[in-house]
Amino acid sequence: MNGVTVIDHPLVQHKLTIMRKKETSTAGFRRLLREISMLLCYEVTRDLELTLETIETPITEMQAPIVEGKKLVFVSILRAGNGLLEGMLELVPSARVSHIGLYRDHDTLQPVEYYFKAPDSLDERLIIVVDPMLATGNSAIAAIQKLKERGAKNIRFLCLLAAPEGIKNFQEAHPDVKIYTASVDSYLNEKGYIVPGLGDAGDRMYGTK
Ligand code: URA
Repeated sequence: MNGVTVIDHPLVQHKLTIMRKKETSTAGFRRLLREISMLLCYEVTRDLELTLETIETPITEMQAPIVEGKKLVFVSILRAGNGLLEGMLELVPSARVSHIGLYRDHDTLQPVEYYFKAPDSLDERLIIVVDPMLATGNSAIAAIQKLKERGAKNIRFLCLLAAPEGIKNFQEAHPDVKIYTASVDSYLNEKGYIVPGLGDAGDRMYGTK
């Protein structure tokens, strides 16, 4: 699928299968999400540009590679995005973090922003927006719209599962933003759940209903 990278690493697929199981506990789900988010982060940052820096090892001076440019920004779409964020920050502890809170208006069914905080110079940074589930795509579309209004230019979207309907909507709104996911599932049901999916990611992560 154009513009979509499916991260098919065996460890990712194995962990995802356990997360999908309805009998997996809240603690187990959270631990797996942390682990899988590190593997996903590894893949979404695979092509970061490097530059050479002169350093001294205990033996000699050398030109050693470091990631080029300003610090990355991870953007968590609340609340489920925080589950992916945690593991990613373990891998890239110097990343800057933005949070975007959106809720769905019952009448219009459109996302309404209730919280937004982001670092400066978004136009000079690689921005990785995270939300475990790309379902209708409405929240991700709105979040990225907001980031673009604040100057963001180089954006990637990372999720665990994506529905084909969400991918279509997302790509119509933001054709310039690449999607990274562990799986493209079958479809979105009438209640807005991804099928086969894993249920409500936020509820499974936090033990709510
Ligand atoms: N959000 C979820 O948490 N799960 C779905 O299946 C769809 C949206």
